[in-house]
Amino acid sequence: MAFSPRFLDELKSRVGLAEVIGRRVRLQKKGREHSGLCPFHNEKTPSFTVNEDKGFYHCFGCGEHGSVFDFVMKTDNLSFPEAVELLAAEVGMKVPVETPEERQRAERAKGLYDVMEAAAVFFEKQMRLPVGKAALDYLLDRGISEESIAKFRLGYAPDNRGSLRTALSKEGVTDAQMIEAGLLIQPDNRGKSPYDRFRGRAMFAITDRPGRVIGFGGRILGEGEPKYLNSPETPLFHKGRALYGMPQSLANARKQNSLIVTEGYTDVIALHQAGFTMTVAPLGTALTEDQIQLMWRVVPEPCLCFDGDAAGQRAAKRAAERALPLLKPEHSLRFVTLPEGEDPDSLIKAKGAGAMTELIATAQPLSEIIWRVETHGHPLDTPEARAGLERRLRDTAMRIGDETVQRYYLNAFKDRLWKEFRKIRDAANTGKSGRFAPSSQMAEKSGSATKVDRKWLQQAILLTTLITHPELFDQLGEQLGVLHFSSPDLDKLRQEVLKTLALNEETGSGLDFASICDHLERTGFSEQMGGLLSRQVYDHASFARPDTQFNVARKGWEQQLRLLQRDQLLDEIAVVEKRLAKDPTREDFDLLKSLKDTADKVEDAEPEYNNGGVPTGNVA
Ligand code: UTP
Ligand code: MN
Repeated sequence: MAFSPRFLDELKSRVGLAEVIGRRVRLQKKGREHSGLCPFHNEKTPSFTVNEDKGFYHCFGCGEHGSVFDFVMKTDNLSFPEAVELLAAEVGMKVPVETPEERQRAERAKGLYDVMEAAAVFFEKQMRLPVGKAALDYLLDRGISEESIAKFRLGYAPDNRGSLRTALSKEGVTDAQMIEAGLLIQPDNRGKSPYDRFRGRAMFAITDRPGRVIGFGGRILGEGEPKYLNSPETPLFHKGRALYGMPQSLANARKQNSLIVTEGYTDVIALHQAGFTMTVAPLGTALTEDQIQLMWRVVPEPCLCFDGDAAGQRAAKRAAERALPLLKPEHSLRFVTLPEGEDPDSLIKAKGAGAMTELIATAQPLSEIIWRVETHGHPLDTPEARAGLERRLRDTAMRIGDETVQRYYLNAFKDRLWKEFRKIRDAANTGKSGRFAPSSQMAEKSGSATKVDRKWLQQAILLTTLITHPELFDQLGEQLGVLHFSSPDLDKLRQEVLKTLALNEETGSGLDFASICDHLERTGFSEQMGGLLSRQVYDHASFARPDTQFNVARKGWEQQLRLLQRDQLLDEIAVVEKRLAKDPTREDFDLLKSLKDTADKVEDAEPEYNNGGVPTGNVA
């Protein structure tokens, strides 16, 4: 599209170069010029200047310079016509169009914007009338503030077939326009008159980036189907291109260099109310390419929040896959997993804004998500399985469009595979070339097998199995939690493992064996880990090895627990017997009897163990 020089000059004079640049760069006024730190290269002292009179910016450091259009194109990643359109919309200028069809379409669109605006005003007004009281109460009851109602232009569509139609036709809007805008439904039988699409619903105005109303989402008050009724596709409204909450978020997103993407209207509003005034949402559909590009024009790495349940994780996977072909240097996505069953709205209500901040701090990069998708639920216990993983990761990386990013992904995956496989091998191996040095404690103990502290070994096996199979935490964590380990070192490690896995479960971040090892190593437990991930442990309990199936590991673990419990019972029995010998009392006699009964029961329940646990008695 060609723009006339007159139009461009006029636009330039209206937009205010320093103001546009000032949204991105902290500028200081010096005489007729502004100066600041150059956004196009890294610098500590300002060499970037903006000359409003001459209409251009210039950096004496890196040589970048240009007009306001160049600036917006560069920083917002727009084409020239897009930059012109964006700036024109901001100052309310009409972009002159060339062909009659284009002019006509623009005229019609302009008309439709006015229609949508009139409808938004109508809905807002209705909510302030007695007829809208139920809707207002509904929103307020849900904790939506008056401020949010104004900011997001919430309103009410009365529960009858003609109130919007009547109101807007009084303003000169035709039925045809309202139908085109998606506000009226034309019955198939053309003889019948069109009627209001939205009835008896709380109305959420959906706006485009400059803040023009392009559609609506109407929520039923309370329970019912459909929960939300949305505008159909219209010349203005394309579901896959809009992001709810964008104009309300734009300024702060830029300032904080952060954009949160959540699932629903109410999440956006709740997050804004809690201070996260840079939150948007797609409109109930999977994220589209257009939406990803739109987000990237605001910040380079938007942060997507997904539910911890299976559906949420599938959506995360889909978004990750959608983004791959679009990746470019310094543009990516981050992923936050919400605790299962919570959305940001409910999380903030239950635990406050701090919980959300903490969660956002755990956001994972895209590459991590891809890794998890490809490794989760895939055992890596055979060479074929490992080759499969390598192949899948490679195929995924090959879908990245940008050559440089692709190269880095391939390398990163290669490194990680190598590390991961080495970890598995080292752990399963004897500990000779292990990643963890055998602890001094172990070295001492292995001097003579009979000297091995049986209790230590039993406890070590229980702990090791949980480290090599973190997915067992759900079932076994509680039982491990009530045990007390006799060695203080081991008990400290037990507590750290439990804490880590509990947190992991809460945030749903899916820690695996390797990442737990990393974590424990970082938190200063490498020596103890050397003792645990060792032949000493694995030879006594092959089920504790990282490559055993998790149900085998679980059975072994439960059996080992019984052995430990029986040992503890026998210890207690010995103590009570000693006491009885010295000073026989009725209570101790009863206690002894019940301890022995329990020990018998444990014994009965216990199957044979073959290389599957530490038996009582001496370890040979
Ligand atoms: P949710 O069901 O999570 O809704 O759908 P919500 O936003 O949390 O709403 P409340 O808190 O129950 O009121 C997420 C998004 O999916 C779209 C909407 O955009 C919604 O915000 N959606 C959902 C629909 O379009 N139609 C529906 O019937 C349901
Ligand atoms: Mn909700």
